[in-house]
Formats: sequence, C-alpha cells, structure tokens
Amino acid sequence: MREERFLTPGEVQEDNSIKSLRPKTLQEYIGQNQIRQRLRVAIEAAKVRREALDHTLLAGPPGLGKTTLAHIIANELGSEIYVTSGPVIEKQGDLAAILTGLERDDVLFIDEIHRLNRSVEEILYSAMEDFQLDIMIGKGPSARSIRLDLNPFTLVGATTRSGFIGAPLRNRFGMILEMEFYPDRDLKQIILRSATLLGTSIRDDAALLLARRSRGTPRIANRLLRRVRDIVTVEGESEITMETVESAMTLLSIDSEGLDSMDKKLLSILIESYNGGPAGVKAIAASLGIEPETISEVYEPFLLQSGFLVRTSRGRMVTEKAYRHLGLPLEGRNTPLWNYADHREEVEE
Ligand SMILES: Nc1ncnc2c1ncn2[C@@H]1O[C@H](COP(=O)(O)OP(=O)(O)OP(=O)(O)O)[C@@H](O)[C@H]1O
Ligand SMILES: [Mg+2]
Repeated sequence: MREERFLTPGEVQEDNSIKSLRPKTLQEYIGQNQIRQRLRVAIEAAKVRREALDHTLLAGPPGLGKTTLAHIIANELGSEIYVTSGPVIEKQGDLAAILTGLERDDVLFIDEIHRLNRSVEEILYSAMEDFQLDIMIGKGPSARSIRLDLNPFTLVGATTRSGFIGAPLRNRFGMILEMEFYPDRDLKQIILRSATLLGTSIRDDAALLLARRSRGTPRIANRLLRRVRDIVTVEGESEITMETVESAMTLLSIDSEGLDSMDKKLLSILIESYNGGPAGVKAIAASLGIEPETISEVYEPFLLQSGFLVRTSRGRMVTEKAYRHLGLPLEGRNTPLWNYADHREEVEE
C-alpha cells in the first residue's frame, strides 16, 4: 500500500495531463549537470560511431526525472522507445517477445528494473552483452535451447533502489547514473519554466519560496505550482506572489522545510516511542501502519538527505536538527554523534 498524500513524489494522473511539463531534450532538462554532460557525450559518440548507446541505469528517488531522461535519451538518439516495467514482464517469453521486436538502435526502457523476476533477469544478461537471446523451448525431454540474434539496442533501466540490483545486472550497464535531489536554484528554474508552459506568471521570489518547499523533487515542485496556480485563478489575481505561496502551503500543511504531517509523524514516533532511535524500518513502519518499502522509497530519502534522519548500522536515528525543527527538547534523548552522519553505514533492510 502506498500512502496517499499530497507530497508523495509518486506519479499521479495529473503529471501526465494534456499540458505535459516534461522536457523533451537535454537542453531543456534543468540541473543534474554531470549526468547531462555524460549523456550528451555518450549520445554524440554513439551517433558518430553509428552504434547503439551503452546500456544506461538511472537510479534515484521518485520524481527526480528518470522517466523523463529515458525519453530524452531516445529523442536525442533519434530512436524509438519501447516502454515497459519490471513487474509487468512476468515470463521469459514476455521479455523475449519485446526484445525480438526491437529494431536497430531502439531504446528499451524498463522502469522499476529492480522488480524484474530472476528468470527474466537472467535472459537479459546475454541480450545486453551480446545482443543474443538464449531461451528454452518446450518442456521435459523434448526441451531444447535456442539462440536468437537481436538487433543492437540500448537498455535504459530506472530504479528507486539501486542497492537491490545485483552485480550481474549492474555490471552489464555501461553507464550508471545516480540522480541527486535538486538544489533550490534548479527547482526554481524548473518552476519558472513550468509556469511559462502553464501560462501563469510567478514572481522570482515566489518561485524560490516554492522551490524551498519542494523537497528537492521536480515532480513535487510542479504539483505545488499547479495548486498555487489554482489559488491565483480562484482569487482572480494576475501573478503568483510570496503571499500566495505562503497561504497555499498553510492550506496544504507543508512547513518551512517542505515537511508535511506524515514526515513529522514519522520523526515524532521515532522520538516518542524509540527515544530518538535507533529503530528499524520495519518497526517504524508498523508504528505508522504503512509498508516498510513506503518508508524506504518515499519518506526516508528526503529526510535522510535533508539531515533530519540518519541511517546507522542499528537502524534509523533522529538528528538534532529534527528536535530543533519540531521544537522538542533534546535532553535524555538519543541522537547520533555529530560525526555519525559521515560514517553512517548504508544498510538496506
Ligand atoms: N530536470 C528536469 N527539468 C524539468 N522538469 C523535470 C526535470 N526532471 C523532472 N521533471 C519533471 O518532473 C516530473 C517527474 O519526472 P519523472 O516522471 O521523470 O520522474 P521519475 O524519476 O521517473 O519518477 P518515478 O521514480 O516515480 O518514476 C516530470 O513530469 C517532469 O515534468
Ligand atoms: Mg518514472
């Protein structure tokens, strides 16, 4: 179950509405400069050599632009893109059908690639490495293996959990691009661009304020912009100002750090029930009545990145910043040592 809330970085219908805010070229894509640079060079080189682009893995939290980038890659290559996702490909035959249907230099985009099942993943190995498909036909004594040649193609995989991708698959990607949360100045540019596309005018300072509440995530920035734009429309105002943004944020219960009530509940539970931690994700999830994956994929990344939470080998701990932000006393509570964050161990549960 995925908790429904306004700030959830997950995709909703609106994101794909008629007025798409998705950039279509690398030029239009804002931020993630290193990734853009690497892609630009690799795409140019592939075009010059008339070869398929190296297989590319895009990893990072929801809403940072992985799907957008996959489409941009195909567009920049001048190739067709075939879109599917890990959980949709149930059998080897499903993947075989997709792979044999690809034309030369096509892009195959597999979203949520960490959710591919093992047997499907296994036939991907030789497909990626040698553009060959080894599949078993038939069952029992009459079963035989056949090998099919595939057209050279580029696999673009997207994942919110790069830790869940095993070495055999990971090693077959020529490029592994780890996406980062966007700094406020990039989000501000994204908001200004989206406002233009939506035909709304927004003041510079209002765009920056909105950026600060967007949790480093373009999808949230665009969603907040749409809500603020609604208010302006209803109030009959001509542009979005700081005041409009402030009142929208109050209405949506989003605080100055971009935290909503669910984030605060998560931090509070860690403080109240676990004395600040450490506590395991499963325990926290049980207390909140949500799935552990929802914490790891949806809530936690931003709380970790913004320094409200740290991940230690014994579980999650609330930081001093969280106590201060929630206005709760620190005395007698557990908090990580100041340098804990520098030495934190990446443990996946
Ligand atoms: N760099 C960017 N510049 C401008 N807009 C962006 C950028 N990145 C993302 N967006 C906007 O944010 C929205 C969400 O991006 P996208 O759907 O690509 O995220 P995602 O990483 O695939 O998320 P998920 O993990 O949920 O699939 C897009 O509709 C797009 O409008
Ligand atoms: Mg996506």
